[in-house]
Amino acid sequence: MPRLIVVSNRVADIHSSNAASSGGLALAMGGALKEEGGVWLGWSGKAIDKGDSPPHFETVGKVTVARIDLSRRHVEEYYNGYANRTLWPLFHHRTDLTAYEQSFRDAYLDVNRTFAHAIRSFVQPDDVIWVQDYHLIPLGRELRALGVDNRIGFFLHIPWPAMELFISLPQHADLVWSLFGYDLVGFQTEKDLKAFCDYFETELDAQPDEDGLMDLFGRRLLARSYPISINPAEMVELGRSEKAQESFRRVCEGNAGRKILLGVDRIDYSKGLPHKFAAFSRFLERFPERRGTASLLQIGQPSRSLVEEYQDLGDELVAEAGRINGRFGKLDWTPLAYHTQSYGRDALAGIYRAADVCLVTPLRDGMNLVAKEFVAAQDPEDPGVLILSRFAGAAEQLTEAILVNPYDKEQCAETIAQAIDMPLPERIERWRALNATISRSSLSAWKDDFMRDLRALKDQRNEAASGVFS
Ligand code: F6P
Repeated sequence: MPRLIVVSNRVADIHSSNAASSGGLALAMGGALKEEGGVWLGWSGKAIDKGDSPPHFETVGKVTVARIDLSRRHVEEYYNGYANRTLWPLFHHRTDLTAYEQSFRDAYLDVNRTFAHAIRSFVQPDDVIWVQDYHLIPLGRELRALGVDNRIGFFLHIPWPAMELFISLPQHADLVWSLFGYDLVGFQTEKDLKAFCDYFETELDAQPDEDGLMDLFGRRLLARSYPISINPAEMVELGRSEKAQESFRRVCEGNAGRKILLGVDRIDYSKGLPHKFAAFSRFLERFPERRGTASLLQIGQPSRSLVEEYQDLGDELVAEAGRINGRFGKLDWTPLAYHTQSYGRDALAGIYRAADVCLVTPLRDGMNLVAKEFVAAQDPEDPGVLILSRFAGAAEQLTEAILVNPYDKEQCAETIAQAIDMPLPERIERWRALNATISRSSLSAWKDDFMRDLRALKDQRNEAASGVFS
């Protein structure tokens, strides 16, 4: 039986599907592998004094996890460096935060080679390999150079940048060329796919055909969009758990008689948290009669805390929450509760359900699964309202949310008031449409669509895979 080998920078704890802090990717891949079974290779999260380790394996049910420990230098220059100080800010259009260091790029390529050697040590001829995200873009090419000619797909969980910004990356052509090590490259949205195609049109005067196939560099690549989703039934199930009931009760009791506005984000500058706080503050300023009638509960999951920009953002948010509470708070009302903790997904299910309004307002985001989880967790008889940034990938599908421009403080402040006042029939109508979209495009459907396309490429596979890249 051909196996699925999933490769991502981080692997989730396979003993639990409850960790919320590891981000959408780990969550999604854990879910996909649980269904299909297979091998999941990734970094263990450990930094060691020696060089990168060979993978150590652990099997739970149908899933074998292979973890690689990385050297301290690689963690610093590959993960904190090229992945999170070069590609992440650039792909999120923060060229002001993007660092271009040759040592970062060298470490990035080194780690991709480490991963390639690890895979080659256990891959079998019929295995299908599915590589995830920006940490591992060159992995396909490295595998081809080692003679691995299995079918290999790649999925980018974050947005693909606009062409004008992408070409500021030194060696951008090499990064794009390395993608041709894959047979199939998937993006979150049609917009990302278009941005990717713009690059070929402008820089190489090339374009994919109407099926998304591109013949370049002696290789054939299929590029398509596959919007990632969640398993809505799982969210509903989690909502029945004891933890969910408890968190629901505690949030409701702590905010009795008040509307609950909710935010759940990793503490990341792409999530637009200072903008969200500013919009909430503006809401309180513009509508003084509403002070004391609503509170914002913002959960900020700590993330990448060794990167300076993330530390600065963390400090800024604590200070800003303090300013808002200092300015507007009353003896019996704290306007903004900012919790820098990670809650399990079961507890989150209850928190989502307790909320009247969820603010998902990133400045730029690949998809944003919080938006989808919030919808899935709602009470169909009395659902909450989703305010969604038009710059989240999810906005391409979730068009019945209230879409906002997170940079527009006035619009966001007004939208908060509109969401709080929304009559029940409109809430139900919007929620039904959103929920129908989410149910149609579940996590299983996402995985199945991608795997079907990757497997269907069988007959037109690239020949002489290693030749071009060796
Ligand atoms: O969803 C994008 C992503 O970078 C994933 O690749 C990652 O798992 C998640 O965000 C959290 O980031 P990190 O693994 O750096 O904590």
